[in-house]
Amino acid sequence: MEEMMKDLEGKKVCVTGASGFVASWLVKSLLLSGYRVIGTVRDPDDENKVGHLRRLDGARERLELVQADLLKEGSFDDAVFGCHGVFHLASPVLGTPKSDLKVEILQPAIDGTLNVLRSCKRNPRLRRVVLTSSSSTVRIRADLGGAPLDESSWSSEELCEKLQIWYALSKTLAEKAAWRFCEENGMDLVTVMPSFVIGPSLPAALSSTASDVVGLLKGERERFEWHGRMGYVHIDDVALSQILVYETQRARGRYLCSSTVIDVDELVAILSSRYPSLPIPKTLHKHERPHYDLDVSKLRGLGITFRSIEQMFDDCVQSLTMQGLLSP
Ligand SMILES: NC(=O)c1ccc[n+]([C@@H]2O[C@H](COP(=O)([O-])OP(=O)(O)OC[C@H]3O[C@@H](n4cnc5c(N)ncnc54)[C@H](OP(=O)(O)O)[C@@H]3O)[C@@H](O)[C@H]2O)c1
Repeated sequence: MEEMMKDLEGKKVCVTGASGFVASWLVKSLLLSGYRVIGTVRDPDDENKVGHLRRLDGARERLELVQADLLKEGSFDDAVFGCHGVFHLASPVLGTPKSDLKVEILQPAIDGTLNVLRSCKRNPRLRRVVLTSSSSTVRIRADLGGAPLDESSWSSEELCEKLQIWYALSKTLAEKAAWRFCEENGMDLVTVMPSFVIGPSLPAALSSTASDVVGLLKGERERFEWHGRMGYVHIDDVALSQILVYETQRARGRYLCSSTVIDVDELVAILSSRYPSLPIPKTLHKHERPHYDLDVSKLRGLGITFRSIEQMFDDCVQSLTMQGLLSP
């Protein structure tokens, strides 16, 4: 316990891309843990995007929203200034591979990460940056099938290019650029690499991945079929992991964050029998993808226990139903 940065409680952290699906849940968890949070958003006056943040418990007293854009140099200076920690999540997220969007995804992910880090460097109070990377920086490889993949694995940039998986390429290049920058500038960086995040959605508009999940639960086949084999993780476990690696002084390097890796046909079999009133397809065409698993013992070693597929989808289905987005 003495290694935990306990004195950080109530102090100031910045969350970039605060209005997003994963970041909103992190902001909620940080506020519940007593932090003062500066959230960056592209448009703080867009009620549709930020209304849910302003309504969070503790937001009135301890949440400030600041305008910042990944593509503008120096844009994060004000937001980051005086913060002890920065959680960097802002990055373009698109579920399916899109051949025509390479630059639109790569540029904000890579240049934006470096912009945020340059702002962090100008802040003398900064202790640690936590970058939310992705398991897609680890698992896009031609040589899958052996031992479970751990944090020493990097996705093949060539394979990402060949398969036109620009999201995975953007996250891989952005994380590598972040490690280079922080090593050159003596900055404390820890990265968390969640697999596909499942859980309640706080933002009014569904993110790309959350709308893929709603699509599957409503019976659309094509939104998930391309997944093949995929890891899944509860959104609350992602937030807890991000806060844990920030607070734990001995946390170092990269952390895979995932509960269960499962083939998409197995997933729909579980979901269609668990929620019989939803029109979930009972089978899906399974694109042949090599078998792989993820070794998450490093994060477990810090104390995280991951919720099961059933628990993450129960929470997700329950909240979507309450929001009127599903009618079982
Ligand atoms: N969802 C998952 O399954 C998953 C898994 C692994 C890792 N992650 C990572 O988690 C992070 C959040 O993902 P998410 O699923 O929550 O996606 P999301 O809801 O689409 O959030 C992405 C955020 O990035 C912001 N953003 C995009 N382009 C920007 C720009 N040019 N300037 C400033 N902000 C910009 C968006 O702001 P606007 O609201 O203004 O558009 C949004 O807040 C990403 O880094 C993603 O790679 C997600």
